[in-house]
Amino acid sequence: MSGERTDNEVLTLAPPGSGAELLEVRDLRVRFSRGGRRVHAVNGLSYRLNAGEILAIIGESGSGKSVSARTLMGLLPPSAQVTGSARFAGTELLGLPEREMRGRRGAEIAMVFQDPARSLNPTMRIGAQITEAIRAHSALSRKQAAERAVELLKLVHLPAAERRFYEYPHQLSGGMRQRVVIAIALAGEPRLLIADEATTALDVTTQAQIMELLLELKQRLGMAIILISHDLGLAASYAQNVVVMYAGRAVEYTSAEELFAHVRMPYTQALLGAIPLLEREPHALLPVIPGQPPDPAALPPGCPFRPRCAAATDACAEPPPFVEHEPGHWWACWHPAEDLSPQVKDGVQG
Ligand SMILES: Nc1ncnc2c1ncn2[C@@H]1O[C@H](COP(=O)(O)OP(=O)(O)O)[C@@H](O)[C@H]1O
Ligand code: SF4
Ligand SMILES: [Mg+2]
Repeated sequence: MSGERTDNEVLTLAPPGSGAELLEVRDLRVRFSRGGRRVHAVNGLSYRLNAGEILAIIGESGSGKSVSARTLMGLLPPSAQVTGSARFAGTELLGLPEREMRGRRGAEIAMVFQDPARSLNPTMRIGAQITEAIRAHSALSRKQAAERAVELLKLVHLPAAERRFYEYPHQLSGGMRQRVVIAIALAGEPRLLIADEATTALDVTTQAQIMELLLELKQRLGMAIILISHDLGLAASYAQNVVVMYAGRAVEYTSAEELFAHVRMPYTQALLGAIPLLEREPHALLPVIPGQPPDPAALPPGCPFRPRCAAATDACAEPPPFVEHEPGHWWACWHPAEDLSPQVKDGVQG
């Protein structure tokens, strides 16, 4: 779709551990107009996802994670300008008519958001909400759909599923509500589930339980998952591959294992350096990196991380291309880091 020149190299290799390719996003760019200014929300994002894999998309707030996910769901406002490509199971999603997109939403790709309370209808019993979602995707009768709804509630390990079926969202805890939201997302038997900060609003114990549930669902249903998070430590312990985003761009992309062993991009390195801090303070939502990410309506020229980067030189006035510098390892940086210092590897902040 894109006729523009791109500084993002086309991805030619899938990361290690490849199954069949399900999704390939290439040089995705999304712009909005806000108050006469152009907001570059997604500014060059490329990755691949294989069937049954978990990919983490990591970045600070405002880095374009949610907008990129909503693009795949066809959930952007009409004013959004989208270029690039997103091929899902052989079909180009960008530019699909809304009618076709609606057919795929939930059936092929489903999304779970941060706040389970807002995803549920407070005035409707949860069983009815799941039943409705199942009937939207199938020709099952009301009774059959209700039976399937109870099965789904059991699949997501909602305690006392038969009884909870008749309860309203406010009668459930936050973790239980998120299980219900996941059950609704599973109603159309999607091949890809996008979990957008799906555990961020939950306490640490519940967060771990929901992550375990997602992992179990991936294994039992063969579903691929995109795990969107600002928490690199959490995501990398569940994901096979990780895309790190900064200012709307992919800045590092490789397997979780490789990322921890040979992190290259200074921004990712800073995120990793912040992990021990997150472990001490599980509710600290943002890693501590001095400075602020740039305003997407006024991106600086050159490398967007430059104002915060300790390794920056004059060369960084040119934007570094996002390329596969080592097999299976892409990054965008003129001065990639050497391997992490032993202190950071051992979990001590350097
Ligand atoms: N509908 C919109 N109109 C204008 N700007 C938007 C819109 N939606 C998101 N943005 C902007 O796009 C940028 C990326 O947002 P988002 O993808 O939500 O970030 P993240 O999920 O990484 O926190 C932010 O600067 C946000 O303000
Ligand atoms: S390109 Fe330069 S400014 Fe950007 S991350 Fe690399 S060293 Fe830092
Ligand atoms: Mg978001």
